[in-house]
Amino acid sequence: MEIKKLVRQNILDLKPYTSARDLYSNGILLDANENSLGSTFTEINELNLNRYPDPHQNDLRELISNRLNVLKENLFFGVGSDEIIDLLIRIFCKPGKDKIMIPEPTYGMYKVSADINNVPIVSVLLNDDFQIDLDEIEKSYSESIKIIFLCSPNNPTGNLLNKPDVLELCRKCNSIIIVDEAYIDFAEEGTLLDEIKNNPNLVVMRTFSKAWGLAGARLGYCAANEEIIKLLFKVKAPYNINTLTRFALREAVKSEQLKNSYIKTIIEEREKLKTELAKFAEISKIFDSNANFLLIKCSDAKNVLQKLAAKGIIIRDRSDQPKLANCLRISVGTEEQNKILLDALKEILK
Ligand SMILES: Cc1ncc(COP(=O)(O)O)c(C=O)c1O
Repeated sequence: MEIKKLVRQNILDLKPYTSARDLYSNGILLDANENSLGSTFTEINELNLNRYPDPHQNDLRELISNRLNVLKENLFFGVGSDEIIDLLIRIFCKPGKDKIMIPEPTYGMYKVSADINNVPIVSVLLNDDFQIDLDEIEKSYSESIKIIFLCSPNNPTGNLLNKPDVLELCRKCNSIIIVDEAYIDFAEEGTLLDEIKNNPNLVVMRTFSKAWGLAGARLGYCAANEEIIKLLFKVKAPYNINTLTRFALREAVKSEQLKNSYIKTIIEEREKLKTELAKFAEISKIFDSNANFLLIKCSDAKNVLQKLAAKGIIIRDRSDQPKLANCLRISVGTEEQNKILLDALKEILK
């Protein structure tokens, strides 16, 4: 498949912003109108915050390439995966003309980004197990659909998508297939990262906001074929990932064990929470989860939501999404937070 044929003509024609730093990063740097005297943030001088960061993201790409066994050329970093969603829509979809397809229920930002870019959405439903419905997709598919957004484990349902279904879509559709793996660290298997080698139209997105606990640093990345990565570099803001965030990542990856212990505890707490929630008669279903949250179905979701909020416990109403009437999404908290939640539910649902 020819990726080039899917790209907007203005992006193919685009002459990207260039800076002298594309060629030189050392020497007497008098090219970028920075403050050569130094930074006013003097706590960590070696960060050189008075200088713009490397536009090619070499440090980040090398760091993650070594860890994931993915070539540096196949990696791109965004200001959270939310930035990558937006950039991919901008690269492939002509506003008002090309479309994106979203199997729902799923993460809300795909639609928001499409709406911001004036890109129409073709919505299809996931099946009753929240898996891809290949027949439904085939019925609604057309060549004007430039991107299909998939989320695995899916937010808010928590399940992994069946890999063969995703790969069949990659083979059959002349579109970019994005698999958002924001929650994959909480699943024991199921990543599609290895498949980018065999599927030129597959983009796998990940984030440091969940298992790594770096939501405040705003850092996500995607792995894809080199042609797509080059397009992302062409359209991104020149210095999108800031120096403080890069520093945070360099330090954070030294704490792999801590990340693993977070994952272990979150999974244990999730399963405990699931067992306890199952004891409430008003909660008719708790969906299996491969993520750091649980989706529950109640008899009166709005009532539960409001009464918990009145007690200072905030969970997420997902009941307006297709197939999710009366469903609420609960992030797994600390042992203590989960206990407070369960005690509150005991009072509310007694
Ligand atoms: C499925 C999914 N993708 C992406 C994101 C956003 O990730 P980031 O913080 O990297 O922008 C979220 C956030 O909740 C999410 O649930």
